[in-house]
Amino acid sequence: MIRDGIRPRLGERSAAVGDADPGFGVYVHWPFCMSKCPYCDFNSHVRGTPIDEARYLAAFRAEIRNRAGAAPGRIVRSVFFGGGTPSLMKPETVQGVIDAVASAWRVAPDAEITLEANPTSVEAERFRGYRAAGVNRLSIGVQALNDADLRALGRKHTVEEALAAVGLAASLFPRFSFDLIYGRPGQAESGWRAELARALELVDDHISLYQLTIEPDTIFERLRDAGKLRLPDEDLSLALFRATRELTEARGLPAYEVSNHARRGGESRHNLIYWRYGEYAGIGPGAHGRLVTAKGRCAQETERHPEMWLTQVETEGHGLVENAPLSREEQGDEFLLMGLRLREGIDPKRYAKISGRELDRERIASLVEDGFIEQDALGRLRVTPVGAPLLDTVVADVAA
Ligand SMILES: C[S@@+](CC[C@H](N)C(=O)[O-])C[C@H]1O[C@@H](n2cnc3c(N)ncnc32)[C@H](O)[C@@H]1O
Ligand code: SF4
Repeated sequence: MIRDGIRPRLGERSAAVGDADPGFGVYVHWPFCMSKCPYCDFNSHVRGTPIDEARYLAAFRAEIRNRAGAAPGRIVRSVFFGGGTPSLMKPETVQGVIDAVASAWRVAPDAEITLEANPTSVEAERFRGYRAAGVNRLSIGVQALNDADLRALGRKHTVEEALAAVGLAASLFPRFSFDLIYGRPGQAESGWRAELARALELVDDHISLYQLTIEPDTIFERLRDAGKLRLPDEDLSLALFRATRELTEARGLPAYEVSNHARRGGESRHNLIYWRYGEYAGIGPGAHGRLVTAKGRCAQETERHPEMWLTQVETEGHGLVENAPLSREEQGDEFLLMGLRLREGIDPKRYAKISGRELDRERIASLVEDGFIEQDALGRLRVTPVGAPLLDTVVADVAA
């Protein structure tokens, strides 16, 4: 059934990968953690008993077969193991998933295979196994480079362990990245500058720097509401954001996305598929996907609860609870929401092709005049450094 006139377009799967053809990736969600961090609202669960990884692997295999049935013949440009904490998986499980992806689709010879890792020493012991399984990029959740803040963030690792994990990743993997959270309770600009400068001495070609968000239904939300979390005010948040941009640029790792910084060519190819509005399969509990199937471009989502997901996959062959074609207008909105996060911005011609309508010229002109967005000689639109801290408002304005 084809609704809203959406059809898989020929050429959408051509070999060249770039803004116009962002390619295809596979996201695999591992939903377990050793403990729940008080700021985190990801689909992550703590279990007191060992996880039956063989059973999960069988279910991952079934979901991969299911998506390949709906979207056959793709070339996989990237695989991303996210979580939760994928570094709690046995290397054999990771290997089994990579093998299943390779039997379902063709994997590009230079495919990026990333795994998110927590830097406790137990997990670092598995790094060699992941490399042997085919993982070629590690993304480590360092979060802070001081022990008091790591404790306040509920982390189970120390700075020493984080530094050891980063060193090990650098020696074992062709590429690695790590995450820090800033705008932490009680953090001053001078402290962040010193910490970031230290972090930038450890990076290779990529670092993710996230401003702390207080998410609904987290312990941090309850603490904030009880007045027990001293969070940066608006001025300090802006100063921290600006300091982050200044230091990363000076180090040759400018922001290519709101929170992601890389040397040219060091960008996360997997995340670029999302931001450039490419196609991806989401495998595992609570995973999201965007697949072009016979129904058109579909928004897919799986059951979030790990054990319920497992049971559903075992009985139905997939864990999907949502699999609906997106209207052209919805696709246009998603394209803007994703693409305007990127420094490279968006091509309005591609927006028109996706959504079937042009951007409002007057509205764009007014946003340009106010200095929130800019248009280059080729017509690409991007959010300026002035507009960046107000991204959501600017996107809503462009999309209106
Ligand atoms: C899927 S999460 C966690 C990966 C891994 N389990 C870990 O904790 O290191 C990916 C990243 O999102 C960031 N993050 C999670 N919750 C956040 C929040 N509330 N505010 C800002 N960043 C957050 C953290 O930097 C984290 O490393
Ligand atoms: S931040 Fe990472 S380790 Fe902590 S609960 Fe969330 S997914 Fe798990």
